[in-house]
Amino acid sequence: MEHTSMINTTELYSLIAGQPAFTEGPEYESRNPARPSDLVARVRLAPPEAIEQACRTAKTAQADWALVPAPVRGRIVANLGRLVEANKEALAALVTRENGKPLPEALGEVQEIVDTCDFFLGEGRRLYGQTVPSEMPDKQLFTFRVPVGVTTVITAGNFPVAVPSWYLVPALLCGNAVVWKPAEYASASARAFAELVWRAGLPSGVLNLVFATGDDTFEGLSRALEAGVVDKVGFTGSTAVGERIGELCGRHLQTPCLELGGKNPMVVTPRADLDLAVEGALFSGFGTAGQRCTSLGTLIVHEDVRDEFVDRLDKEVNAAVIGEPTGDVLYGPLLNDRFAESFESVLGWIDEHHTVRGSTGIGRITEDNPRAGFQGDLSGFYYHPVIVDGVRRTDRLFLEETFGPLVCLTTYRELDEAIDLANASGYGLSSSIYTSDPATAFRFRQRVGAAMVSVNNSTSGAEAHLPFGGNGRSGNGSRQSGVWVLDQFTRWQSMNWDFSGKLQKAQLDVATVEPDLSYRLPDRFV
Ligand code: UN1
Repeated sequence: MEHTSMINTTELYSLIAGQPAFTEGPEYESRNPARPSDLVARVRLAPPEAIEQACRTAKTAQADWALVPAPVRGRIVANLGRLVEANKEALAALVTRENGKPLPEALGEVQEIVDTCDFFLGEGRRLYGQTVPSEMPDKQLFTFRVPVGVTTVITAGNFPVAVPSWYLVPALLCGNAVVWKPAEYASASARAFAELVWRAGLPSGVLNLVFATGDDTFEGLSRALEAGVVDKVGFTGSTAVGERIGELCGRHLQTPCLELGGKNPMVVTPRADLDLAVEGALFSGFGTAGQRCTSLGTLIVHEDVRDEFVDRLDKEVNAAVIGEPTGDVLYGPLLNDRFAESFESVLGWIDEHHTVRGSTGIGRITEDNPRAGFQGDLSGFYYHPVIVDGVRRTDRLFLEETFGPLVCLTTYRELDEAIDLANASGYGLSSSIYTSDPATAFRFRQRVGAAMVSVNNSTSGAEAHLPFGGNGRSGNGSRQSGVWVLDQFTRWQSMNWDFSGKLQKAQLDVATVEPDLSYRLPDRFV
């Protein structure tokens, strides 16, 4: 395997077939959001043609890669898991530095790659097809999983390495080549993870890394689809961009794998263990600064337990330590200035009929707008946590993803009403219910629109081997992880083999069986 460029976290280029490419592009600075003076990497952004060129390279490499036996491809996945494990602390520290998530969460994120590799290394020895009986003698039917071809993977930076691994690992295992375009603000983490994939033994042209802006990526993807060098697109990001990618792929008769936003509801019933529910709301609402697609959106609390629940949650949120993500904190800064800006506009949706709880202020934590117990450098993009009580179903805050440390709260009387509220935003990613009553839990599961349902657990923190994905505004029904993702990265091919020595025509030359349908049981049997 050729590795022409050693990892260099201060100067990053796109890598196509292992070679630095488009090294003259405009520079993007990836900075530590907890201390923006800390420059993590200078990244050269490539133009739209980079995507097309990388896809052409991938197309060539894929032909040979698909011929490598799946169990051998599985060995590379096994190697990757071990290599990631051996680099766990270093990779997690880089993720924390570049994206600001607390170190324990970053370690969990890296573990999610290891788990994904552990699952798929064995799949290299399965990747089962079927043998199927024919309707005619001396004929055998089969099914095979065939790689799709070139996959273009475009990922967000809130999970800069784990979520990409959900695409890369199964796509590569199945015999596809990949062009990966990570979020600019997660470039160093992406570059480090890509290095581990190559070092695991992957031929360099089978995974190509392109750094580019969203607009240029869209333009490049459009050209590459036109040129017929992309066979599958995987995208994790906003619903608005997902809609555009879905439209673009649809024009080329492709179904992308889309993992989009969420407005994940949590229902707290009268039979909830309130301690558990408060803990779950705190973690899924404010952990990762609310920047997971699975973060809690709206609490839907039964009127009978509302006052007690709100008081307890308010206390916990007020007491939570926010600050430097290498320290012992509930959450760190927002991902970067762009995310901070868009969260500020979300805060503008707070209306007069709302009551705000959770902190000593609203908005960015500054010297003039302090937060009790804050433990960070005020130059970071730190924001007060907000519980917005009294949201109504027509409020923008109730209907839209907020992607920041903000949780809405409303109440209900009957379970039907809670389910209706849980579905009202039209998103359908994750959901949660706290109850000790099995019937309530099952009724909720049956009727909630979300693809993922937690009972007595928070909305976030899905395990790496269950189907992950969303419905409605959260995605197009594609699922990642576990065996379910194999249908994204392979297509079924069917084969029939006739060894009868003659042309046997399906439907026409099939033996018939004549029943006596006029037969009725005689009286003596009745
Ligand atoms: C995301 O935010 O895009 O279930 C993914 C979870 C994590 C993954 C989140 N395992 O919260």
